[in-house]
Amino acid sequence: MPYAGLSKKAVKPAVVGVSILACFFILYGIMEQRKQSLTYFVGKSQRQATRERPSNSNAVAHEGTNGGGNNQEMDDSEEWENSIERVHYSSNDDDISRHDLLDGGNRLRPQAHSGHETHGNATKKGAHQRRQQAAGLLLKRPPDFIVIGVRKCGTRALLNMIGLHPQTVSAGPEIHFFDKKESYKNGLKWYINRMKPSTSSQLTGEKTPAYFIQPDVPQRMSKYFKTVHKKPKLLLVVREPVSRIVSDFTQGLYNDDNVDIQELNKKDIQAQFRNKALGKDGQINRKWRAITVSEYSVHLRRWWEVFHRDELLIINGDNLITNPAKEMTKVSSFLNLDKSVDWSRVLYYNETRGFYCYDKDGESTCLSSSKGRTHPEVEESVLAKLRKYYKPFNSQFVKMTGLDVDWDMR
Ligand code: A3P
Repeated sequence: MPYAGLSKKAVKPAVVGVSILACFFILYGIMEQRKQSLTYFVGKSQRQATRERPSNSNAVAHEGTNGGGNNQEMDDSEEWENSIERVHYSSNDDDISRHDLLDGGNRLRPQAHSGHETHGNATKKGAHQRRQQAAGLLLKRPPDFIVIGVRKCGTRALLNMIGLHPQTVSAGPEIHFFDKKESYKNGLKWYINRMKPSTSSQLTGEKTPAYFIQPDVPQRMSKYFKTVHKKPKLLLVVREPVSRIVSDFTQGLYNDDNVDIQELNKKDIQAQFRNKALGKDGQINRKWRAITVSEYSVHLRRWWEVFHRDELLIINGDNLITNPAKEMTKVSSFLNLDKSVDWSRVLYYNETRGFYCYDKDGESTCLSSSKGRTHPEVEESVLAKLRKYYKPFNSQFVKMTGLDVDWDMR
């Protein structure tokens, strides 16, 4: 019986032809879907962050805003999540990403070649092209470096300065992966997803100052780095511990919605500081977290129980304020960055701001006004008690690290 105008003989080849066509379309559909699933939606890139354009040489753009609000523990993460950018990579690159994820070695490979080179055979050329492709790929990877603390010692300045080097990228917001149970239980993928995408020749990093003081963090971090087969590069910036406390206190005043800083007079501020720093018995009040944060030697000991000393660089935060180029040269060599950045040229003192600023994408850029606040005048007698309290901690810290500081001479 003829079917739809076809002879019995012609039905079979027609069915086969239609089936082949259907298979082709199904396969094409699957491949398209796979391509889409390999599209990474990533956070707004640093270069897109809003900045004031300076109207004259003294005008500055700001980076690293503070979220405000009344939470003293609030970090200085920027609002990066609002816009998204797409980074595509083809399904062939899947292997590269997995390989890179597990690549524990030095990721500072040479930059991609110009593409005009010729090679003796096609295989070599193919491998070269794949390397080129890999070097240009933006992928989210486990961090190569982490600024672990200390809060109010210049962590934002350090991260932003590192970010001036083309071989690095870093996450804008503080991630709080290892210190917060709720984040940690989200797992590795969650953490990696918060990293800024990097090419295989760049280092990617983050800063979360709360890591330094949370007892569980060194163990968790060590376990993490073992899982991803990487050697961590940890950076710790410290500052004279009593000025760190005053800085912490100042931030608390600014972030407290219940306090109108303009309304506070000198006496109110001094009383607030005294009541936080000292208990009713006049002794140092260790219940105020700012006090224990500044006990650097206690926290560092925990890190050294887990990490090798070579894995952690200590940066002098007081020098980072006055001579950042010197500190950044040490940081560069610790991170194995190339010498393409002349820190003494890139960083320059800005009279208006009273701090070092830098050129970024052709703009004069300084940290936000929440960094480098004028500290209120607090009572000398309270400061003296604090300095005395920190003497043993400081001498321990200096003994442990060999850091050349004059903290106890103040
Ligand atoms: P103060 O606001 O007390 O002066 P963190 O980023 O860890 O919160 O540290 C803030 C501190 O970074 C500031 O404390 C400031 O002294 C210091 N800092 C270092 N270099 C800076 C820079 N170039 N601009 C602004 N602040 C800087």
